[in-house]
Formats: sequence, structure tokens, C-alpha cells
Amino acid sequence: MKKNILIVPGDGIGQEVTEVGKSVLVKIAEKFGHEFIYDDALMGHAAIEATGNPLPDETLAKMRASDAILFGAVGHPKYDNDPTAKVRPEQGLLKMRKELGLYANLRPIKLFDELLGASSIKPEILKGSDILFFRELTGDIYFGEKGRKNDNNTAYDIAEYSRYEVERIARKAFEAARTRRGKLCSVDKANVLETSRLWREVVQALAPEYPDIEVEHQFVDSAAMMLIKDPRRFDVVVTANLFGDILTDEASQIAGSMGMLASASVGDSTGVYEPIHGSAHDITGKGIANPLASVLSAALLLDISFGLKEESDSIIAAVDQLLKDGFRTKDIADSTTPADKILNTQAAGVELLRRL
Ligand code: NAI
Ligand code: MG
Repeated sequence: MKKNILIVPGDGIGQEVTEVGKSVLVKIAEKFGHEFIYDDALMGHAAIEATGNPLPDETLAKMRASDAILFGAVGHPKYDNDPTAKVRPEQGLLKMRKELGLYANLRPIKLFDELLGASSIKPEILKGSDILFFRELTGDIYFGEKGRKNDNNTAYDIAEYSRYEVERIARKAFEAARTRRGKLCSVDKANVLETSRLWREVVQALAPEYPDIEVEHQFVDSAAMMLIKDPRRFDVVVTANLFGDILTDEASQIAGSMGMLASASVGDSTGVYEPIHGSAHDITGKGIANPLASVLSAALLLDISFGLKEESDSIIAAVDQLLKDGFRTKDIADSTTPADKILNTQAAGVELLRRL
């Protein structure tokens, strides 16, 4: 198979972990006889410094021309401490999602058995948890009108959803439930929000088309509680942009660390695959970032964009073996991990490639 893959490391640890993610794609191509052609592009703070634009036209053109994108993260402390900055790295992120029509963000939350002890949740509650989130990505309060009024004393953000936007993500979630345990939980706040009432109406209207899927509706506050109390009750979860953002960070604790979680953003055209974590300024440059979220993002890329299930599974198996052999990065190590098994980013990449 011949494919063009665009590598967009972005900022901070995005640079460090994406290097490992790419090395895994290189090894897979060699092992399975594919031809992957790579290009790279700037985004985020790195792009602002070079061009004044967090998503330069050149990057967007390369994105459109590629078959899939492996992305790192964007962000820099400079903007976090200056909420008034007009040009910001995350504007590039939102623009990329909108321009590429990436309306569905898939976040598999699966706990590797070896990491049962790494979570702050009790192992007996966690064991066997396997949730697939569908977070809507191009609508909601993130993209509505926002501003200030009353002489700058009042701020507002408007949330909006169309039937069409809800239906297309809900369909993806129903279809995914078919390939899994046949359960779909739609999360909203329909007791209060009009966008949520439309959301629920659309999901209810679709349900008869999927008689094999068991559908439930949960309010987001209660879903947040159940996620920690009994994560195994969830199979596929579909929810709006804001709720999905919060719930998936919460759910990252089921998998032990932000450094273990990958995501896929798909929709109308090229898919974007990235760790759910950000640029992590607190550990940038220390070489200790866990690269496995980027590695697992590469696995999602092969499976979802290229249909290369065997190749994708072989990456997941290599991660599993690495953990079984006792290796950990600092974020997933505990008091029982011997010092010589705690690897830095690069060494974790090397050990992983050996198992691939
Ligand atoms: P973060 O996800 O970067 O970090 C949160 C915590 O998890 C930190 O303590 C960090 O050290 C740790 N962590 C994250 N990834 C890790 C890894 N691979 N290995 C080990 N530890 C890891 O979120 P934070 O600190 O809220 O934001 C930092 C910057 O990232 C901000 O500028 C923010 O805007 C940006 N950001 C970007 C995202 C993206 O590009 N998709 C998503 C989230 C945040
Ligand atoms: Mg987030």
C-alpha cells in the first residue's frame, strides 16, 4: 500500500513523542511491505513564531493533500498566562478541525492489564474497562458566537447544534456499537439545555434504525459520576463537544495516564491522529514524556484511515509486551518499578521497536 502521511509534531512534548510515533510507522512499512511517504509541517506556537499564523496556509494545503496526519500537540506557557493574546496556538487546532471537517473525535479508553495498579481507581472497579468515546468536534459552544458586552463586564459563548450535526456523529457511534458490545450511551444535559434536547431527540429518532443496539441517555453530571464508580457499564459513548472534552480527560484516569491515550479525528476528508494530552510544558525538554499515546495514535491511523487492522493490532501487541516486560515511563511507574525499568522517551521508543 502506498500512502502519504503528514507529520505535524507541533509544540512542547508534541515534538518528542511524535518522533517515536513516526518511527513505529516506518517500522510497520518495512515489516509489512508498505510504502509510506512522509512530509512534515508547522503548527501552533512553532508556526506563530515562524509565520505569525498558528495554522499557515502551507500546512493546511499539505494536510489536504495527505492521506492521514499524525499530530502531536500545540501550546506554550506564554499564552496560558495571557488570556488576552489575539493569536493563539489552539486557534490553529480549531481551524484545522473546521477546515478538514473533522466532526467526530474517537477516543478509545482501554486499560492495559499491566497498568491496573497505575490508576488512582481501585483495580477491581477498573479491570476489563473498555470504552469508546465519540466526541462531536466541530460544533457546540466552542464554535458559536462569543464576546463581551455591558462595557466589558459580561462575557458570553453561544452553544449551537443542528440536526444534521448531531445525526452524523450519532450514526458513527451507532455503527461502532455494532462492532463492539452493542451498547450506546448518549450523554447530554436535556433537563436544562435546548441543544441537548435536540441532541436527545435526534438520537431517539435514529434508534429504531439500529434495533440491535441497546441505547440509553444519561445526563452529563451523572455520567461523570458513573464513569468513575462503574466504568465497565459503558461501551460506546456519544456526546457533544464540551461534555466530551471534559469526560474524556476524566476517563483518562481509567487508563492510568494521559500519556497512554490516543485519539482519531475523522469526518469529511483526511483523518488526524493525536494523543489526547497537550504540550505538557512542565516536562518539555526533560525527555521523560510517555510516547505510547503517540504510538497508539499511529495504530489508530493505520486501522481507521488505511484499514490496516493487522498492522494496527501488531502495534498494540508490542505496547502490551513492553508493559508485560515491566518497562514503564515515569508517569506510569509506581513504587514497585525497579529503577532500571523506568525508561525515558527515546529508550521507550527503542524497546518498543524491538517488540514490533
Ligand atoms: P497536558 O495534557 O499537556 O498535561 C497535563 C499533565 O499530564 C501534565 O502534568 C503533564 O506533564 C502530564 N502529561 C501529559 N502528557 C504526558 C505524557 N505523554 N507523558 C507523561 N506525562 C504527560 O495539559 P495542560 O498542562 O493542561 O496543558 C499544557 C499545554 O497544552 C497548554 O498550552 C494547553 O493549551 C495545551 N493543550 C493542547 C492540546 C492539543 O494540542 N490537543 C490538548 C490539551 C492541552
Ligand atoms: Mg482536553
